[in-house]
Amino acid sequence: MMAERLSSSLAHYSSCCLLRASEPATPHSPAALLSPRRRRFPSSCSLRSIPAPHLASSPLISPSLSHRLFQRRAIGSGRGMSVVCAASDPAQLRSAREDIKELLRTTFCHPILVRLGWHDAGTYDKNIGEWPKCGGANGSLRFEIELKHAANAGLVNALKLIQPIKDKYPGITYADLFQLASATAIEEAGGPQIPMKYGRIDVVGPEQCPDEGRLPDAGPPSPADHLRNVFYRMGLDDKDIVALSGAHTLGRSRPERSGWGKPETKYTKDGPGAPGGQSWTVQWLKFDNSYFKDIKEQKDEDLLVLPTDTVLFEDPNFKEYATKYAEDQDAFFKDYAEAHAKLSNLGAKFDPPEGISLDAESKTTAAEAEPFVAAKYSYGKRELSDTMKQKIRAEYESFGGSPDTPLKSNYFLNIMILIAGLAFITSLVMN
Ligand code: HEM
Repeated sequence: MMAERLSSSLAHYSSCCLLRASEPATPHSPAALLSPRRRRFPSSCSLRSIPAPHLASSPLISPSLSHRLFQRRAIGSGRGMSVVCAASDPAQLRSAREDIKELLRTTFCHPILVRLGWHDAGTYDKNIGEWPKCGGANGSLRFEIELKHAANAGLVNALKLIQPIKDKYPGITYADLFQLASATAIEEAGGPQIPMKYGRIDVVGPEQCPDEGRLPDAGPPSPADHLRNVFYRMGLDDKDIVALSGAHTLGRSRPERSGWGKPETKYTKDGPGAPGGQSWTVQWLKFDNSYFKDIKEQKDEDLLVLPTDTVLFEDPNFKEYATKYAEDQDAFFKDYAEAHAKLSNLGAKFDPPEGISLDAESKTTAAEAEPFVAAKYSYGKRELSDTMKQKIRAEYESFGGSPDTPLKSNYFLNIMILIAGLAFITSLVMN
């Protein structure tokens, strides 16, 4: 049955997915992709027009052209020297995050962006020591050969949605953009803040894509064993498996893509975004713990439950976490955020090696911009020497203040008033 689903999904995919995965199969030639007129690329999100020229730099069109467009840097030495795409620019990452938020607001594509990030990272094999053979979050999913893997059916639409952002910010790698888009989608859907880091390096060619078959199947003969085989291979554990499955609180399954789900339900027939598919939850654009409540109860025929979802309440160890998450949303959010961050780092090669933390960096900058407000009183914009700062600090601290926080009232004015008052009293007494 699964083989049947897979082959029908593949047949459909190879005939039409590259352009119009959610519409009836019609022949499309590569030339059609290059057509200068504007084309519409439907996704699980709402339809959105993307001008074809944006795709000129997409590896879907020409891998060799896209290679030339990337920033390149040689690393390593001797025989093993390899060329990699340089890592991302923090300022561009922050701007791109705002653009992704806007894309989410206008197209409701949260679910497919989460799936994009997961499918790029989820090919990781901890038993393969060599990068990028180990797979993982390295941007390889942008290449047609990997997009054509059966498990990735429909994800070409996600790539087309964010390609204009990639084009606008050439200083960001695909690997980072996929993970940035996914984490932003979770957060914008009401989910937890994910402790992400950036600086992932991209693979440069389709020959560096992982082999097909590393992502999980939704209907294997023994779902618990299968999930463990796949996720343990990534270095993840039972808690991660259950928490990450909770991402199905978002989105829908479409029979014409994965072979799973109904063509439409009362919750999906009107969108938002492109209508159709079957969702796991009623509010499938809201990130909360309803997935666990719904798959526990399995009362609503319009809601999807895959064999790999059901097993979360059957396997004793999975069940412990699934029950907890159904009862306690905070516990789910905490574990989800940790597991998502872990997933997003699988197989990633960072430059700098410790990665770039966008939020920590902006907090540090804000914190550094404000301290030593004492300097404003005496020197305006001039930078003080360290010795002078120490002197000022000692003076403030000697009367219980701090140079890092503005005084509630003007200290020097108060002193002057006090002195004037004392002088006045003294003159009264003397007279
Ligand atoms: C545990 C094993 C998993 C299996 C077997 C599985 C399977 C599936 C299937 C069959 C679909 C439907 C795809 C379609 O027809 O368009 C889907 C969609 C989705 N998956 Fe998973 N998945 C798994 C884990 C995950 C994980 C770990 C995440 C994220 C952390 C995730 C996020 C999503 C999202 C957000 C969608 C909805 C996509 C959309 O609406 O376009 N899945 N998954």
